[in-house]
Amino acid sequence: MPAEPFHTAPTDGPRHVALIMDGNGRWAEARGVPRAMGHREGVQALKRTVEAAPRFGIRCLTVFGFSTENWSRPAEEVSDLMGLVRSYVTSDLKRLERAGVRVRVLGRRAGLPADIIAIIDKAEATTAHNEKFLLQVAFNYGGRADIVDAAQRHVDAVLAGQATGPLDEESLGLGLSTAGAPPVDVIVRTSGEQRLSNFLLWEAAYAELVYQNVLWPDYGADGLADVIEQYRNRDRRFGGRAAPAEAAAPALAVG
Ligand code: FPP
Repeated sequence: MPAEPFHTAPTDGPRHVALIMDGNGRWAEARGVPRAMGHREGVQALKRTVEAAPRFGIRCLTVFGFSTENWSRPAEEVSDLMGLVRSYVTSDLKRLERAGVRVRVLGRRAGLPADIIAIIDKAEATTAHNEKFLLQVAFNYGGRADIVDAAQRHVDAVLAGQATGPLDEESLGLGLSTAGAPPVDVIVRTSGEQRLSNFLLWEAAYAELVYQNVLWPDYGADGLADVIEQYRNRDRRFGGRAAPAEAAAPALAVG
């Protein structure tokens, strides 16, 4: 992986790809195995994807691991998902640290088991100096809640006499849990479902959306290759107009 920091390393494709890792349950159901096995295979797919991403010029991945709405799942499944974070971070932290990956966990700490908070804090602290790649794991995360929290931070700063300017897009953005990450270029959802499900609502403003039919446990480098291909065929205008086609440039031939 090139040594340049993730926010400035040159790339002609998407720098920041966000993934809604959907379909673990259906993958398990199709095989007649417990859902927990689908989630476990989902972790393997996550490892493959993180490892493959830099080869495609991607410098930042944000993955949706557990949403604020996922608490409504049966207690056993919630407990399985918590257990996967424990084992993923514990088994992979050293490798991620050595590979120059900075790990960041987005979302609310409140409500998470104390040992998970300790694991997350340790992962963030151990990798805080890394700049080659940014891996953001949204865990106990909801896009609306994140915007509310950013607004509350601003209110608190005003009440404490610390806010120096008006509330605008830039100052609100600084209060989001994604502050400092490169802009999200593309949001991918696997499993054929086509919605954002409260993921990165603010950051999605100008992201390209890619929906893929693969179930998350089957994901890996091929999925990313398809994302890159689709992305290269998009025309990102950010509200502006398309550049005039070259062939249409001179309306009249002079001479
Ligand atoms: C959606 O599949 C997936 C999840 C709710 C969890 C995603 C979690 C992982 C891939 C495990 C790894 C995560 C971390 C942070 C280590 P679903 O259960 O909704 O599938 P279904 O729609 O087919 O039922």
